[in-house]
Amino acid sequence: MDPSLPYWDDVAPRWDALLGDSNAFMNYQESFRRFHWFLKRALKIGNRTKSYRLLDLACGTGEASWPLWKRVASVTFLDRSPSMLRAARNKYPKGIFVRGDAASLPFLDAEFDVVVSRGAVLSQLDTDRIEAACAHVWRILRPQGYFFFDFVTDPKLVQAPEGVYRTGWRRKEAEAMLLHSLPGATILAYDGTEAHAFNRILVRKP
Ligand SMILES: C[S@@+](CC[C@H](N)C(=O)[O-])C[C@H]1O[C@@H](n2cnc3c(N)ncnc32)[C@H](O)[C@@H]1O
Repeated sequence: MDPSLPYWDDVAPRWDALLGDSNAFMNYQESFRRFHWFLKRALKIGNRTKSYRLLDLACGTGEASWPLWKRVASVTFLDRSPSMLRAARNKYPKGIFVRGDAASLPFLDAEFDVVVSRGAVLSQLDTDRIEAACAHVWRILRPQGYFFFDFVTDPKLVQAPEGVYRTGWRRKEAEAMLLHSLPGATILAYDGTEAHAFNRILVRKP
């Protein structure tokens, strides 16, 4: 059984407190702040985003995407954990909430303008499902759409039960993996170093 399923369900009520507690997850707080900084800077929040249909993939309690909620046309939240989805719904009832799997997304082709995903969902998948997840993200993004996400450089750097984070990439490997799995992708921005557990990347579909 996938050990991350019960883990995320169990941790959901405490997740926001953990994100803000620098002693709980040494790398989470920093990764979280930088994610918002990078998100705002990269997408230059403003009128440009007003028509965007946004997917928060592996949304957890929704903390990754909240700076964009009121600046886009619609927000869809997808997660495998019902407890996480409930917590996100309590914060932003106007969202659309979908329980589902990142490697098999139940959306139409080109349904979204931007997919945001924080919490390294690609690093949580079995290696043989990463390509499927990337193919789904590419399928549901419209041409010129943005995929903005983070990943772990080394699962051992993250304080989580063994098996939750499975795959880490250094920058070169991550870029090679993406260019292979996301045909035609342009890497617009990269943030992080090998010393950090989490690195962030923004890619654009052709
Ligand atoms: C580290 S938490 C991040 C939550 C949130 N994005 C944030 O930034 O706080 C990882 C989330 O990924 C979800 N998750 C893990 N594997 C998943 C999968 N295969 N499909 C959908 N969600 C998944 C977990 O349920 C959990 O809510």
